[in-house]
Amino acid sequence: MAIEHTFIMVKPDGVARRLVGEVVGRLESKGLTLEKMRMLTISDAMAGEHYAEHVERPFFGDLISFITSGPVVAMEWSGESAISVCRTLMGATNPAEAAPGTIRGDLATVLTENIVHGSDSPDSASRELALFFTA
Ligand code: RTP
Ligand code: MG
Repeated sequence: MAIEHTFIMVKPDGVARRLVGEVVGRLESKGLTLEKMRMLTISDAMAGEHYAEHVERPFFGDLISFITSGPVVAMEWSGESAISVCRTLMGATNPAEAAPGTIRGDLATVLTENIVHGSDSPDSASRELALFFTA
């Protein structure tokens, strides 16, 4: 049991589809706390840093093109076990396989356009929050 802080981002597809309120509403209804929020269009350099873990993957180029293709909404959320709670609310990476009731399971069908990003560990959360909310 521990209060955690996590980085959540509505991706360009989610912003374009006007799903920012839907995502925020689901996290708020769960009982998590919105700490910070910022709309921006990510640069190539920032995208490369954010997704550095995937640099060797065949889909890396497409991932960078997509995440820089339009504005995103970057957020810091806090709450009990916030990192895993948010991942559970988001659902599986591939929306076609995500459970009904989850953001991806209810609102998307395509792997590359899965609406939302969430930190997958405390280390990722610290790194991603620093990237988007300092300097
Ligand atoms: P995210 O980082 O965006 O929150 O998603 P995730 O942890 O659930 O999934 P991850 O494994 O970190 O993958 C990052 C994003 O890359 C896209 N992807 N494309 N073309 C492909 O095979 C492929 N595999 C993954 C997805 O959009 C995923 O969210
Ligand atoms: Mg990930």
